[in-house]
Amino acid sequence: MFKDIIPFRFQRITRRQGGGDGAYCTYVKEADDAANKISQRKRIGINWLQNKALLAPLAGISNLPFRLVARSFGCSLAFTEMISANGLIRKSDKTLNYLRTSAEDQPLGVQIFGAQPDIMAEAARIVADQGAALIDINMGCPVKKVIKAGAGAILMKDPDRAASIITAVKKAVSVAVTVKIRSGWNRSSINAVDIARIAEDCGAAAIIIHARTYDQGFAGDADWSIIAQVKKAVGLPVIGNGDIWYPRDAMKMRQETSCDAVMVGRGSLGDPWIFKGIHQLFSGAGEDYLPTLSQRYEIINTHWKMEAQFSGKKIADKSFRKHLLWYTKGLPGSSRFRQIVSSMPDRQTMMDEVDRFFQSLG
Ligand SMILES: Cc1cc2nc3c(=O)[nH]c(=O)nc-3n(C[C@H](O)[C@H](O)[C@H](O)COP(=O)(O)O)c2cc1C
Repeated sequence: MFKDIIPFRFQRITRRQGGGDGAYCTYVKEADDAANKISQRKRIGINWLQNKALLAPLAGISNLPFRLVARSFGCSLAFTEMISANGLIRKSDKTLNYLRTSAEDQPLGVQIFGAQPDIMAEAARIVADQGAALIDINMGCPVKKVIKAGAGAILMKDPDRAASIITAVKKAVSVAVTVKIRSGWNRSSINAVDIARIAEDCGAAAIIIHARTYDQGFAGDADWSIIAQVKKAVGLPVIGNGDIWYPRDAMKMRQETSCDAVMVGRGSLGDPWIFKGIHQLFSGAGEDYLPTLSQRYEIINTHWKMEAQFSGKKIADKSFRKHLLWYTKGLPGSSRFRQIVSSMPDRQTMMDEVDRFFQSLG
């Protein structure tokens, strides 16, 4: 839980020669400092749309190490993956594990999912007590098990229940409550505007909209015009999500929809520096941002170390493979590297191969 991981210490990432601006996090903090920081933020509130680019909740991906990497590139608000309200109430270790954070991982949005207003309220209380800066309610998950349980995207079809959940959660906590929705259930039932209005009436602090319907899953293009419609319909901050692969997409989404901020999902995989590119573009400081090869190598190593510290070496060696594949995608000769890494038996062999690959790139 939050406090348990506060002594979590990371090493400062050193700059490399010719590396330009290697502005990463400094993670070394004392436990007391960290605890103070969190309670202070709770009191003073947070400017959580600051850089206008947020990291999406991503199951199996947006854990503490990945959030810290994203934050080091200017992501101003990051979310945990969706956490079961039932699991939180049962206080199962596995579920509570999703709440692990550190002082630098603030402001943190914790996303919860469930179908019962009272259980969602109780879960929200637990999460808020642990220091979450805001609580997001999942109304977009298309996973069968979740839908069957009456949670996630199926709430788009049940506005009364959606309203009861938002009201109950809002009543239970004093931190901001946001709602992440989809465009609708399917093409013939696009109702994001209605649900956003309900969220506003029930006291939500912002609405996040993934501009695809439930039946699109993650395929097909996101229809940003729905984001524009929602923005016109409500007075709440609107965060647009879907198909931001490059900083220019973020700019285009804001221009086309007038959304207040963008949320990046898959575009951040292997490309967490997208947040720096977006920030540069939004602030007129430049175009896209790309780290040098040596910086990319360093990011990989640091991320991997954090992952090992977070999950233990054994689990990290497995779970980090996907990041290695993402981090090297598109680099010259990467298809051979990617094939080899997928079948590597252990950490040392993988690391040696990473070293060899980056050396071969010069
Ligand atoms: C692997 C994966 C896991 C996801 N997990 C969650 C989740 O836990 N909660 C949620 O609201 N959305 C989740 N999403 C959806 C994303 O947050 C985002 O809405 C979606 O990917 C669209 O944004 P993108 O086009 O930028 O990826 C997930 C998506 C992917 C690909």
